[in-house]
Amino acid sequence: MTDHKGLILDETRKLHLSRQDDGPFVPGVTEIWPAGAVLDETDRAALVEAALEMRIAAGPSSRRFESRFARKLGRRKAHLTNSGSSANLLALTSFTSHLLEDARLVPGDEVITVAAGFPTTVNPIIQNGLVPVFVDVELGTYNTTADRVAQAIGPRTRAIMIAHALGNPFEVAEIAQLAENHGLFLIEDNCDAVGSTYDGRLTGSFGDITTVSFYPAHHLAMGEGGCVLTSNLALARIVESLRDWGRDCWCEPGETNKCLKRFEYQMGTLPAGYDHKYIFSHVGYNLKATDIQAALGLTQLEKLDDFCAARRRNWRRLRDGLDGLPHLILPEATPRSDPSWFGFALTVDPEAPFQRAELVDFLEGRKIGTRRLFAGNLTRHPAYIDQEHRVVGDLTNSDIITEQTFWIGVYPALTEEMLDYVVSSVKEFMGARG
Ligand SMILES: Cc1ncc(COP(=O)(O)O)c(C=O)c1O
Repeated sequence: MTDHKGLILDETRKLHLSRQDDGPFVPGVTEIWPAGAVLDETDRAALVEAALEMRIAAGPSSRRFESRFARKLGRRKAHLTNSGSSANLLALTSFTSHLLEDARLVPGDEVITVAAGFPTTVNPIIQNGLVPVFVDVELGTYNTTADRVAQAIGPRTRAIMIAHALGNPFEVAEIAQLAENHGLFLIEDNCDAVGSTYDGRLTGSFGDITTVSFYPAHHLAMGEGGCVLTSNLALARIVESLRDWGRDCWCEPGETNKCLKRFEYQMGTLPAGYDHKYIFSHVGYNLKATDIQAALGLTQLEKLDDFCAARRRNWRRLRDGLDGLPHLILPEATPRSDPSWFGFALTVDPEAPFQRAELVDFLEGRKIGTRRLFAGNLTRHPAYIDQEHRVVGDLTNSDIITEQTFWIGVYPALTEEMLDYVVSSVKEFMGARG
């Protein structure tokens, strides 16, 4: 019998290899992207195989990915989602569950976060009727400090939700201790920092719950995708319910009566024996990912350690190459951390004899891609101006980031030649500006 699938997958791998652009790097012509997915023939074959099997909803690959990824990050449970933003929404919303009884967050409670970062680290706070309390960050690490967080704790503070900035860990051991001392929940947004460590321990393993993004710019790519991880089984159950329409039942879609009590529950004011598959204990969403995404995640996961090593190597090459240049604040790893970097941030000194825009234009003109530190100071964006919030201290550095900071890439596809061209381009620009 012809092995149609084997033939198709062989041809798929060949197709992938035939499409590789092995042309030489041409300075100023070849694009140096700041970020992107790094996909090889095994990834392409995994996608095609999932399609051939027509595994179009969440299924076996999703479950396999969840258990392998949880093991990799040292958490007991992982739940795949359709994005990192959805993962953040689920993570924070899980703390509002009635199943937490008196410990649950209620509207008006405060959540400490940072002003400079990605919007969907903060949005779930507002979306749940909670109040964000913004603190400033440091220039160089782009993270806040335990001291700043401690100063922000007030009588209504119930949780802390912060991202590890561009892969650089915040002082997560100290902030986790602070959270424990004050009875606060800690959510680590680990979307940009998979593989980073603090005190030798993986980020994402300190807080009550953590999130990851698999959008192509991130350490692992699924196209779109994300994950919520926790070692707290009660929270994991809440996350699953919220992700899967709010239902109480924990059978996978397509499975029935795993608990052998499908028609034996009585909940709410429903009649006894109402089908457990259709009993809803949370006001939920559907934020699941598909098996095709998970199939890609599985082949990507095998390369995670190499990806993280390349990110570290690339960051180091840029850092050594640019060391000592005037008028630029170069990035610094938070003490006691080993970041699996997302990007390489540069802040133009406000006193510099040139503007950020001039340097960015110069680099972009040479096909060196740049990005902003996401939103910069979120409180200055139209969406947030009228939202109830509290600011503790000032947001001076967040404002400097808004006006003076950008980042360039360190992702694994960048070659030494490309990175050296980035360094020489920055130096050339600086040489011309004194
Ligand atoms: C820190 C952080 N959190 C959350 C997200 C959202 O992830 P997604 O794009 O998968 O929704 C991002 C996106 O880049 C991010 O950088």
